[in-house]
Amino acid sequence: MAESTQVNDVISVGHDGDIALICIDNPPVNATGQAVRQGLEEAISSLNEDGSAKVIAIYCAGRTFVAGADIREFGKPPQPPSLSDVLDQIERSEIPVISIIHGTALGGGFELALSTHARVAIKGARIGLPEILLGLLPGAGGTQRLPRLAGIPWSLDVILSGRQVKAEEALEKGAVDRVTEGEPRAVALAAAQDVLDGKLATRRTAELKTEANQKALDDTLAMVTKKNPHLFSPGKCVEAIAASTLPLDEGMKVERACFIACMETPQRSGLIHAFFGERAVSNIPEAKGDTRPLAKVGVIGGGTMGSGITTSCLMAGIPVRLIEVAQDGLDRGVATITKNLDGAVSRGKMSSDKRDAALAMLEPSIAMEDLADVDLVIEAVFEKMEIKKEIFGKLDTICKEGAILASNTSYLDINKIADMTNRPQDVLGLHFFSPAHVMRLLEIVQGAKTAPDALATGFQLAKKLGKVGVLAQVCDGFIGNRILGHYGKVAAYIVQDGASPQQVDDALEAFGFAMGPHKVGDLAGLDIGYMTRQRKKEEGLDPDERYGGTLADKICEKGWYGRKTGKGYYLYETGAPIPNPEVETLLAETRAELGIEPKAMSDQDIVDRYMTAMISEAARVVEDGTAKRPVDVDMVFLFGYGFPRFRGGPLHYADTIGAAELVARIETYAKEDPHYWQVPELLRKMAADGRTFADLNKES
Ligand code: 3HC
Repeated sequence: MAESTQVNDVISVGHDGDIALICIDNPPVNATGQAVRQGLEEAISSLNEDGSAKVIAIYCAGRTFVAGADIREFGKPPQPPSLSDVLDQIERSEIPVISIIHGTALGGGFELALSTHARVAIKGARIGLPEILLGLLPGAGGTQRLPRLAGIPWSLDVILSGRQVKAEEALEKGAVDRVTEGEPRAVALAAAQDVLDGKLATRRTAELKTEANQKALDDTLAMVTKKNPHLFSPGKCVEAIAASTLPLDEGMKVERACFIACMETPQRSGLIHAFFGERAVSNIPEAKGDTRPLAKVGVIGGGTMGSGITTSCLMAGIPVRLIEVAQDGLDRGVATITKNLDGAVSRGKMSSDKRDAALAMLEPSIAMEDLADVDLVIEAVFEKMEIKKEIFGKLDTICKEGAILASNTSYLDINKIADMTNRPQDVLGLHFFSPAHVMRLLEIVQGAKTAPDALATGFQLAKKLGKVGVLAQVCDGFIGNRILGHYGKVAAYIVQDGASPQQVDDALEAFGFAMGPHKVGDLAGLDIGYMTRQRKKEEGLDPDERYGGTLADKICEKGWYGRKTGKGYYLYETGAPIPNPEVETLLAETRAELGIEPKAMSDQDIVDRYMTAMISEAARVVEDGTAKRPVDVDMVFLFGYGFPRFRGGPLHYADTIGAAELVARIETYAKEDPHYWQVPELLRKMAADGRTFADLNKES
């Protein structure tokens, strides 16, 4: 067999008799960057011109087939040739072209496969068109070619969900032609030989006809508009798929126009920031390097948090020893964990066999001494420093050498907790978010003396649990709750000054939050915030006069803690929340006590004040190093606080407003309340030198 020749750095062509093998080798995921497009164009052209082959097979080196267009090129001036043109050229090739899919063929990668004349998937491969998750739509023929092969209803499902489809399902639907086993190159040779022998049929997708299905299009559009009223790209996906009944070149024009429209929205930029941000948070030296064993975990506390953390570990296949002080508490914990796992089975997240295997890995105990053999302990008990100190003192005497001792505290000082042990290097914070087996955020809190390998193990745990680990430094509330503590107040001020809790919720839901802050408070339990405010008052940590004696305190003093008591800002007797009329009375009382004359506030004003408050504290958190970079704050909010993903996070959103405008806003608000509204130094500097948070991400 002849040697293969390099077309360029990423594309090579080999020959075996009448077969030409085009290999794409562009690590890490073979994205179709400019060099791949250029190389493919040259290879297909010269093979068609020189007649050296009767069939062409495209396969990839490395861990996966092409995972898509190169997302890093988006937003920059396009470099020819375009992916659509290259795929058009492949489809028009006189010599049949087949594609061999291993790993994942996603986005532009699957579109490449769709433009070839037959698709062979290697067992375990997945295909998908996940562009919608980036605020886009398949822009290189995916909306036109997939419906021709697999029909409009299934294409709508795949394109609008962005899900990864197993090769077997794709085969059943006609999106791939064969599923087989083997190494990509060997499969390519065998499949190409089958084409030559007439055993694998080839045809041009463009020449197939899409069967019209207006009902599926209408139903899907109605469903996505209801489910995601804020998102721009789902509607455009439906519009483009509808055009697949037209001849390919006409449909492609519609797809192109829809793609460009999506490309130009800030949603695309927010969603792509989220994609890279999720990876960037652990792409830091602290997350790398040596780690310690994680074969067995101990969890102290069988309440909501402890049970959620235990569930999360069990779902990831990590055995857990769960400790409670008394048998009844332990039984309740086991019952909660069982319920959580049953919920995961009914949501299709795990099979019942896996649930049984997970439960078999749970060892409940009321003896703390049973933690002697675990590699990591996560303490998740009541939020009182004295209790935590006592527990860590005991752990120091019980746990084996090198075991990591972590606290799930949401606010408390990890250094004070570490000081209760003779091994502060083994102590860190692992702050989970409720429900801990569902929420993906894990704040990994570095104490003053935490050892690098203990910290890196925290990141490894996050990865094993499928969570997004974000590094935070010690302060009251770390990244998320500290910022929440600040902007939570502004929601109270807005209500005191004139808006109703419902207006605030409606305005923020229209901005994109899944739930407004008052509905969230009712759901989480208003007593939690109440207790925190009391503690801060006692510790002299919250000298904010205007905040004392708020509406929230009055509501809690009535014993209304939200959903769990059937009453909070809203009433829940009939299911859907209805504003609680008695809150109006308490609000009038609060305003009278504070001498506030209520004034009308626009929804825009509400959103501006709320977001400016959030951004202000987020800027301070970056400025003082509690968060390493702006992107870390953004990911905390996307994965822990229900911040609208399409807005990228508070500091990505801040860049769309600009530091100068934010400073001007704060200065205006400060005229009413100079104590609360203060311009963070970082924001002032950014306004002066024109830098953005995106610039700060790049600099760090
Ligand atoms: N472009 C550029 N870089 C990409 C990329 C892409 N399409 N996909 C992944 N990467 C990078 C990641 O940023 C990461 O870089 P890093 O190591 O510097 O952090 C590296 O490749 C490895 O990625 P992961 O850490 O995510 O590796 P996994 O093995 O966990 O996952 C994957 C692999 C399933 C392919 C996952 O990366 C993924 O889902 N990628 C995105 C796929 C996608 O959205 N494709 C559509 C792109 S848009 C498009 O094609 C438009 C077209 O229609 C015109």
